[in-house]
Amino acid sequence: MGERKRAIRVITITSGKGGVGKTNIAANLAYVLATMGLRVMVLDADMGLANIDLVVGLAPRYNLYHFLKGEKTLEEIIVRGPGGMMILPASSGIEEMAELSRGHKLTLLDALNGLSERPDFLIIDTAAGISGNVTYFNLAAKEIVVVVTPEPASLTDAYALMKIMYQNYARKRFRILVNMARNNHEATEIFKRLRQATDRFLNIQIELLGFIPFDPKFKEAIRRQKALAEIFPHTTASRCLMVLAEKIRDEKPIFTDEGNLVFFGDGVIDHGLG
Ligand SMILES: Nc1ncnc2c1ncn2[C@@H]1O[C@H](COP(=O)(O)OP(=O)(O)O)[C@@H](O)[C@H]1O
Ligand SMILES: [Mg+2]
Repeated sequence: MGERKRAIRVITITSGKGGVGKTNIAANLAYVLATMGLRVMVLDADMGLANIDLVVGLAPRYNLYHFLKGEKTLEEIIVRGPGGMMILPASSGIEEMAELSRGHKLTLLDALNGLSERPDFLIIDTAAGISGNVTYFNLAAKEIVVVVTPEPASLTDAYALMKIMYQNYARKRFRILVNMARNNHEATEIFKRLRQATDRFLNIQIELLGFIPFDPKFKEAIRRQKALAEIFPHTTASRCLMVLAEKIRDEKPIFTDEGNLVFFGDGVIDHGLG
C-alpha cells in the first residue's frame, strides 16, 4: 500500500436512556463541523428506529439494509445532507437490523475502511441502551460521548452503560455531554453527581465535554425537518453546539489503545469481538 491512510476520528453519541437528544446532537454536530469545512459522515446506527435523515429532512431511498443485503455498495447508499455532510442511513423497523450479526458487522467495518472518500469525522448515532449493536459501535469508536439530561433516570442509565463498557470491555474513558440543562451551572452539578458515583464504584475516567441548554426551538426545527443549527443559528443551543464543535475540532485526536477494534486504521483489526 502506498500512502498511509489518515486516521478518521470516530465518535459515538450514546446514552443509556432514550429521548435524551442523541440524534439531534449527532445531526447538529455533524452539520456544524461540516460548515467548518470538515468532511463529516454520520452513521445512523439506530437500526430499529432510524431518524437522522428525518431530522435533516431527507428521505433516502436506500439504506444500510440494502447494503448488508448486498444490493447496494456503501457509496450508493450515502446521501448528502445539509452543509455537505454525508449520511449513512439506517433502515427503520427491520427486525434483523436491530441486532446485527457478526458477519454484517464485519462487512460494514470493511466497507467503511475501504471508502474512497474518507471523512475527517465519523459520528455514530447509536440506539439507546446496551444492546449488542450499541456496545459494538461504542467499542469500534475511539471516542465515546455519553449524553445525559437532568432527569435522574438518565444518570442511572448512563452509569449502567459505562459500567458495562468498563466491566465487560475494559473501556475507561468517557466524555459526558449534558443536554437540556438550564445552564452551565446545572450541567456541572449533574456531571459532578455522575462522577461521584463513577469515582466511587468504577475505575474509569469521565470528563465533561460540554452542555446544551433546553431550547424549545428544537421542536420547531424538527417540525421543519432542518438541523437546529441551520435554521436557528443564533439560538443559545446552536451557539453551544458551535462551541462544542470547535472544542472537538481543535483538540488533539485521542490516541488510546482502548477498544477491541481498530476502526479506520490501516485496516480492521478484529480481536474476536462477537
Ligand atoms: N436541548 C434540547 N432542548 C429541547 N428539546 C430537545 C433538546 N435536545 C433534544 N430535544 C428534543 O428531545 C426529543 C428527543 O431527541 P432525540 O434526538 O430524538 O433523542 P434520542 O436520539 O436520544 O432518542 C426530540 O423531540 C428533540 O426535539
Ligand atoms: Mg435517536
